[in-house]
Amino acid sequence: MKILDQIVPSGPAISYASLIEKIEILRSTLRWSSRLERADIEKLLRQASTLRDEVMQLSHTERFVQAASGDVEQLSAKPAAGGDRRRALLARSFIFEGTFGDNSALLEALEIAEKAAPTDLPVLIDGESGTGKELMAKVIHANGGRSERPYISVNCGAIPDNLLESELFGHKRGAFTGAANDRKGKFESAHTGTIFLDEIGELPLSGQVKLLRVLESHEIQRVGSDEVIGVDTRIVAATNRNLRRLSEEGRFREDLFYRLSVIHVSLPPLRERRDEIPLLIAYFSDEAADMLKRRPVKLTPRLRDFLIHYGYPGNIRELRNILYRISCLAGDVASIEHLPVDVRPMTTHAGAASPVSAGAVSVTSLSEAKRAASDEAEKAFLQRGLQEVGGTVAELARRVDMNRSHLQMLLKKHGLHSKDFRHAHEPKSDDDAALPGAPS
Ligand SMILES: Nc1ncnc2c1ncn2[C@@H]1O[C@H](COP(=O)(O)OP(=O)(O)OP(=O)(O)O)[C@@H](O)[C@H]1O
Ligand SMILES: [Mg+2]
Repeated sequence: MKILDQIVPSGPAISYASLIEKIEILRSTLRWSSRLERADIEKLLRQASTLRDEVMQLSHTERFVQAASGDVEQLSAKPAAGGDRRRALLARSFIFEGTFGDNSALLEALEIAEKAAPTDLPVLIDGESGTGKELMAKVIHANGGRSERPYISVNCGAIPDNLLESELFGHKRGAFTGAANDRKGKFESAHTGTIFLDEIGELPLSGQVKLLRVLESHEIQRVGSDEVIGVDTRIVAATNRNLRRLSEEGRFREDLFYRLSVIHVSLPPLRERRDEIPLLIAYFSDEAADMLKRRPVKLTPRLRDFLIHYGYPGNIRELRNILYRISCLAGDVASIEHLPVDVRPMTTHAGAASPVSAGAVSVTSLSEAKRAASDEAEKAFLQRGLQEVGGTVAELARRVDMNRSHLQMLLKKHGLHSKDFRHAHEPKSDDDAALPGAPS
């Protein structure tokens, strides 16, 4: 309830009736004016912006009240299925500058962000590199009452220790060598808005103490100044490290960790939300096509399959970069060859293996050379087949029209184990019919 009290608007109450009245005034102004001067347009735009803000405020308030009062019922109710949860988020006009599907871990993160957004509570976002932490911080800002106020991002890992205090809190002229003028810090710039403290786990202990002080007192002092300045700044922090563990190890202040993580949002790595990959592929192909002024690239089935099963150490950023790269390099259709070399699967296949490696085998007669080449081709054929079917022997037997026990015997002969091919991909060529980038 304490949280609820904080969001009750302090200004004149906004109601649907007053909003409708204002919209009607706007409509009739437009209806009866035959010509509008620039000044009139500016005025109408201002009125429209005010209206939009009021609608947003009303929606935030409603959303939060609903969320707070619905919690008890929701706990006992059967959890909604992914599709319903996604639809419900969108229906509540949740602002999200990206795309999301039905993955439950991601939906949970988004629902927490949605509820946290209209409050001023600190939020800690964690997740591996490229999972969308910064995007999430912007989502929290955009869905809160401060969306029209500044959003200031600070990379705590990129500021040298000796400049940290001045960067965050500003300095007075002459405070240190090189301080030629008074300078505002990031906290002051973010006053009334949101400050995003990225890579918070990299903040040195000395900086952590100072940050804790601001969180407790909502006041700062510029370096070299005695003046105390009040700051009203909502804090969203992000890290790709395990802050709890760092605090247990004494490398991150425990009190600061608890202060920052009142609301904790964890973003799952892309390999744990593969169900979203087709959606992201479509989203980024469209985005890249827009940027490169081309039609969205189509993907061969092999490339598509590869992209769905790849491990993505760089998470969504890596997938995005790949889509931009292939959209730039490929014509209408992109294939495995358009992938960056370090990502591209190794090509082990009959065609390439025979001439080179058969030559490497020491042979004493033509028939032996033929048998060695044939064995190698057979092994490569089986490897490729297993990769294509993700290690399912029955499926491979069906595809190549071979008796299953005969196939098992051949696998044994070549020392191949089907389990080694689960989700492995080593395509030979990429000349299948192309599929569009967008999922059907
Ligand atoms: N759900 C999504 N829909 C569309 N784009 C997304 C989504 N999530 C992340 N992205 C995009 O992926 C890229 C990486 O996201 P972001 O920079 O937010 O990740 P990060 O977790 O902050 O990464 P790092 O730890 O490396 O700083 C950005 O281009 C972002 O717009
Ligand atoms: Mg980031």
